[in-house]
Amino acid sequence: MAFKLKAVKSLLILSAGVLSLGSCMKYLESGWESYKGDEKSTSYAAFDQINLSNIQNLDKDWTFQMHDLEEGDEPVSSQANPIIIEGILYANSGKQTVYAINAETGKELWSFKALEEGMPSAASRGVSYWAEGEDKRILYSAGNSLIAINAKTGKIITSFGKEGRVNLNEGVRDDPEKISVTLTTPGRIFKDLIIIGSRLPDFYGSPPGYIRAYNCKTGKLVWTFHTIPHPGEPGYETWPPDAYKYAGGANCWAGMSIDMQRGMVFLALGSPTFDYYGADRKGENLFGNCVLALDASTGQYKWHFQAVHHDIWDYDLPAPPTLVTLKKDGKTIDAVTQTTKHGFVFVLDRETGESLYPIEERKVPVSNLPGEEAWPTQPFPLAPKAFVKQFMTEDDLNHFSDEDHKAILEKFRSVRYEGLFTPPDLKGTLSLPATRGGANWGGSAYDPQTNYLYIRGNNLPEIQTIVDADKFFTARNNSVYELGRVKYAEHCGACHGTDLKGVPPTFPSLVDLKSRKPEKEVLEKIRMGGGQMSGFKGIITEAEERAIMAYLYEKKDQGIEVPQETHSTVSGTRYANVTAYRTWSDPSGNPAMKGPYNTLSALNLLTGEYEWQIPIGNDEKLQIDGAENTGLLARSGPMVTSGGLVFISGAADKKIWAFDKLTGQLVWERELPAANNANVCSYSIKGKQYIALSVGGTKENPSGSIMTFALQK
Ligand code: HEC
Repeated sequence: MAFKLKAVKSLLILSAGVLSLGSCMKYLESGWESYKGDEKSTSYAAFDQINLSNIQNLDKDWTFQMHDLEEGDEPVSSQANPIIIEGILYANSGKQTVYAINAETGKELWSFKALEEGMPSAASRGVSYWAEGEDKRILYSAGNSLIAINAKTGKIITSFGKEGRVNLNEGVRDDPEKISVTLTTPGRIFKDLIIIGSRLPDFYGSPPGYIRAYNCKTGKLVWTFHTIPHPGEPGYETWPPDAYKYAGGANCWAGMSIDMQRGMVFLALGSPTFDYYGADRKGENLFGNCVLALDASTGQYKWHFQAVHHDIWDYDLPAPPTLVTLKKDGKTIDAVTQTTKHGFVFVLDRETGESLYPIEERKVPVSNLPGEEAWPTQPFPLAPKAFVKQFMTEDDLNHFSDEDHKAILEKFRSVRYEGLFTPPDLKGTLSLPATRGGANWGGSAYDPQTNYLYIRGNNLPEIQTIVDADKFFTARNNSVYELGRVKYAEHCGACHGTDLKGVPPTFPSLVDLKSRKPEKEVLEKIRMGGGQMSGFKGIITEAEERAIMAYLYEKKDQGIEVPQETHSTVSGTRYANVTAYRTWSDPSGNPAMKGPYNTLSALNLLTGEYEWQIPIGNDEKLQIDGAENTGLLARSGPMVTSGGLVFISGAADKKIWAFDKLTGQLVWERELPAANNANVCSYSIKGKQYIALSVGGTKENPSGSIMTFALQK
């Protein structure tokens, strides 16, 4: 029974839609070999040992405590979706240490710590696995490096790149010393290549989000695709002629999927920078906000589908495209689905990129910002309908108290709001959906048995407050402290508040850092970022950095003059958004719009209709007696199994839930020791099915853990 069943397994997975796996189950090993389950990003587990009839016996199995932080350190949360290969579970911690764990017992086999000091620049959602004979490797990124490790021993493979590392800052147009390129989503393996996107800062002066493929053995760069096209390349004409020299973004941070048979990679691209003002990038801006299909071997352009033209809302494509195969009227259609922050699901033919449903280019509002030319139309699919709210009226405003209601009503009437795609405006603009979606990075789950696509969505309006950056941020005098105050407002205020108070726990307060944190740590955080905060290395100058530090540490006596240089290439007015990423709230801090704030939907891809939609998560403080759950902001995604279940977690209420995949009925839930912010996975070892996920750190164990659940007879 212990024989290797790789071939048998893939056969079983292929036929999972047709066959009942029941009797074969005990021979199935592993089963979650890459990010989101497979290279198609389906988040589908072909295991039915845990099913509707026995789910009540599902309970805690082993828990592995990560241990790369010291007691007393700030707890962190790993966003890693573990992978399981030949009985070993691989996952990286919030600090980006990789752990190899016996997937049956939870015992550590090895760990690899990439970062000795400080915290990483960005979340990392998992690792990739590549093998050729006995040469078995884990490839993943920490800091600005892509790293190769021996999967058996945990030792760095020094023949890869430079001493085991490839510097991601190299080869993306800009001075590698001045930029910070990281990876949030693990690369995808195609033959001997690892294909990667990048995470970049969202501000003026950001580097371009080139797509790159490296050889898994040597770390050598094999191909690069310019997502901001150079002269002569497809899409070049959708930008000003010189934009390829200065424009940034259009990066794939959310992930990609691969069609192994066709040898094609499908990437979800983000918006070009600056996210809310595009006067220096007039045009449609290909391949920003595109599903982009490339030849996986060569990086050659195949097709693209642009979901938002000339984005000025930060509507990045936020999740990997999911590859699906639909059997309809005797025909088999290979398709690509893409969920978006603005709430649509696009269903595209995998060969051509043509939408399977009609799409209308509809006229959208004109921008009033000087220099801006909003694109006159945007694509609206006639089906499927949006999975989140895309329009609100005064009736949708909450009424927690007369005073609070009056304040938000006045705000609602004072800002510019003409529905979806209302451009940023000097009066303030209401954005719904906004920067956190709609969809987010967890992506969707696809069930080949039913052809349902499971989608999590946020309903979180934001008010975008657009200011003339240079006027708003002009220092009153050239003291370091004053410059720091304005530079802080420009770069940090949107999240941490111009009053430093933040919006805990999402955006920590920076009040009184002086008495809480060593300067070195804060400087490191500014340069490298962390969690939702991008690093500012290369975005702000050293002088600006010193000034922000003087402001945060209240060093008012440093009266030296500081030159106000910046890396921006925008001439004329630069506009900034000083309230991005914050849910619109009333003066007491309650959400301005009625819930539900987060939902899970089951979309039937054969009909384009939703089978069910339910709120996910609950905030008891906001829940009105007897009303349904409020839903809670979350970014991670669902997993669906052949056992008839959809699993999901990831909200602040620390829960993991299972629902009947056909009806959306809640069938199981457990409370986790801490909130998790990662996708669930499932695998099987010697006939026993496990559910596993990364769970955030606690006071006692700040590093976080991997928890598993299995049937407990
Ligand atoms: C997009 C939102 C965003 C922006 C912009 C941003 N931050 Fe943050 N910041 C965060 C989040 C989220 C965290 C918590 C995650 C973490 O600590 O890794 C954080 C954490 C921090 C911390 C650590 C606080 C603590 O108590 O541990 C410091 C210090 C900080 N930010 C400073 C800054 C400064 C200075 C700037 C501007 C140069 C800035 N941030 C810009 C979102 C942001």
